[in-house]
Amino acid sequence: MMDAARLETIISRYDGEPYDLIPILQDIQDSYGFLPKEEVKAVARRLKVPLTQVYSVATFYKMFTLVPKGRHQIRVCLGTTCHLKGGQRLADSLSSRLGVKVGHTTADGQFSLETVGCLGSCAQAPVMMIDDHYFGRVTVDKVPKLLKPFQQAADSTP
Ligand code: FES
Repeated sequence: MMDAARLETIISRYDGEPYDLIPILQDIQDSYGFLPKEEVKAVARRLKVPLTQVYSVATFYKMFTLVPKGRHQIRVCLGTTCHLKGGQRLADSLSSRLGVKVGHTTADGQFSLETVGCLGSCAQAPVMMIDDHYFGRVTVDKVPKLLKPFQQAADSTP
């Protein structure tokens, strides 16, 4: 359910005009970690901006996400070098192991999986990150071992 007061606090920082759309969406994203549907609709109404326009802004800018992020973010590099060294295979393996498509979050909310451009460690290709941790020369066989500490942390969450 929408938290109207929380949204109102955000909107009240601005003039409430159509030109405030991007900063307001940014604040919502910072506050919620994503752009919830009801909040997006409310912003469209308040700023008198067509909903389709709000969604096109929300999908155009990479900083915005319309789906909740998982507790852990997995980023698989598909830059040129990593791609040549099996990055796609790695992404596919994570996708089937976790049961989630790239760009989505697992049903239990623990992992988000995405592919990204060069992470700047090409010598270690293929590279992936889990939260702030870099892993280089990752083979499909290593994936379960890499995921384990993050899965255990997830399991111990009450
Ligand atoms: S291409 Fe993956 S780290 Fe550069």
